[in-house]
Amino acid sequence: MIIAIDGPSGAGKSTVAKAVARTLGFSCLDTGAMYRAVAWQALEDGASLEDAEALGRIAREREIAFFHDPGDPMPKGVSIGGQDVSAAIRTAEIDRAVSPVSAVPAVREALVAQQRRIGRSGDYVVEGRDIGTTVFPEAPVKVFLTASAEERAHRRVRQNVDRSVGSIDYEEVLADIRRRDEVDSSRAASPLRPADDAVHLDSTGRYIEDVIDEICALAREKGAR
Ligand code: DC
Repeated sequence: MIIAIDGPSGAGKSTVAKAVARTLGFSCLDTGAMYRAVAWQALEDGASLEDAEALGRIAREREIAFFHDPGDPMPKGVSIGGQDVSAAIRTAEIDRAVSPVSAVPAVREALVAQQRRIGRSGDYVVEGRDIGTTVFPEAPVKVFLTASAEERAHRRVRQNVDRSVGSIDYEEVLADIRRRDEVDSSRAASPLRPADDAVHLDSTGRYIEDVIDEICALAREKGAR
C-alpha cells in the first residue's frame, strides 16, 4: 500500500511520515531527498542551475540509493553516485539550489520513474509535493499536510538552532518559506497542489501525535494493519 503525504516545506511531513511508517511497519520514501541529491551533484559538478539538459542528465545517469541498517525498513541515509550525501543535502546552499532543479521537467521525469519503482516494491509512506497528484495518483491514502507559514518558520528556526545550520533569524526564514511556497506552487511542472481526493490536515497548533494517529486510522480504514 502507498500512503502519499504532500504539502509545503516545514509542515511536518518528514516527522509524520516516519512515525506513520514505524507504526504501520511500512518503509518511508523521502522524495525531496532525491531532488536535493541531484542539486548537490549539480553543484559538485559545477553545472549551471539553468542548464536543464545537464540537470536532466544527472538525474537520469547518477544512481540515487537509500541505505538502511540491517533489518530496519527505515532509510538511514541517501547516496548519489555511491557518495553518502545524507548531511550534505541539508545545507542552506542546497535549500536554495533545489527549487530550480526540481522545476526541470527532465529531472522530474527521471526521479518520478525511480520513485514509482521503489514504491511498488513494498508498503511505503511516500512524502513529497506531487505524490498524490502525479507519482501515485492511485494511492488509497492521500494526505495534504499544511501549517501556517508563521508556524513553519518558527519550527525551521528551532531546527536550525538544533542543527547549527541555516538562518536563525525568524523574519528571514519566514521570507524564505514564503518565497519557496510561491516557487513550488507556481512552477509549470507538477506544481504543489492537493489531489482532488486528498484529506487536508492542518498541523498548526496541533499535537503531532494526533496528526500521526489520524493518518494511521485512515490507512487502517483502507486495510493497513
Ligand atoms: O521536502 P524537501 O524540502 O526536502 O524538498 C526539497 C525540494 O524539492 C523542494 O523545493 C520541493 C522539491 N520537491 C518536489 O518538487 N517534488 C517532490 N516530490 C519533493 C520535493
